[in-house]
Amino acid sequence: MRDPQSFDHLAARYDRLAELLGAELRAWLLFHLPPRADRAVDLGCGTGVHTELLAGRCDEVLAVDLSAPMLEHARRRRPHRGVRWERRDLRDVTPREDGRFDVVFSAYTLHHVPDPDTALHRMRSLVRPGGRVLLVDLVDGRGSPPRGWLRAEAWRTFRGDLRRRPVAEAVELLRLQLDPDWLDHQSTDRLRSAEDWDAHARAVFPGASIVPLHRAHALAWTAGP
Ligand SMILES: C[S@@+](CC[C@H](N)C(=O)[O-])C[C@H]1O[C@@H](n2cnc3c(N)ncnc32)[C@H](O)[C@@H]1O
Repeated sequence: MRDPQSFDHLAARYDRLAELLGAELRAWLLFHLPPRADRAVDLGCGTGVHTELLAGRCDEVLAVDLSAPMLEHARRRRPHRGVRWERRDLRDVTPREDGRFDVVFSAYTLHHVPDPDTALHRMRSLVRPGGRVLLVDLVDGRGSPPRGWLRAEAWRTFRGDLRRRPVAEAVELLRLQLDPDWLDHQSTDRLRSAEDWDAHARAVFPGASIVPLHRAHALAWTAGP
């Protein structure tokens, strides 16, 4: 049976969803990225929707992901001279192997990692003095969002979208959100509550700014000198 948590069969659909739903996160990321930097890392880069924003500001980006089809999609759709796409577990990115980075970024990925607290510490170890950690992940007090709730949310979004988007785009987004594979994926996510997520994140990144972004929390933290 197919693992509903794998992204291997979801690359094209996930990519389009991320494009259609990601405006708020893109704006947050562009606000927090330094105007220019040498090196960034994108941990769990997926199809590269955010990697390309990092590449717009940083000379060199290391983008790692476990899923070959996600990386293949990223390479094809978002080729960029400054990006090195690598099929690797984010837990294998170390300061010893890969050096330190001005920007350490990860979006919607840490809840897939068996030990997210170790990953938080790893993110901290990868940032240069004065560098920035930018971390986004889903939160949900129910642990996993129920399938019925996800479907209701998709319809609720659709009704609002009919006022905000071209009709064809609103229909496309509704179809993607009601896609059975995507519902399988989301309803099997294991998420922390907002309070728990903040507490664990603040323990590693004291004084960080944390803001809610739709169903996620977004953290920005600058390392001391
Ligand atoms: C929800 S997608 C997010 C992709 C991208 N960051 C974005 O914001 O569009 C999660 C990605 O994390 C990857 N992933 C999950 N566990 C991983 C791990 N341990 N190391 C590297 N990538 C991982 C998955 O293959 C998937 O592409």
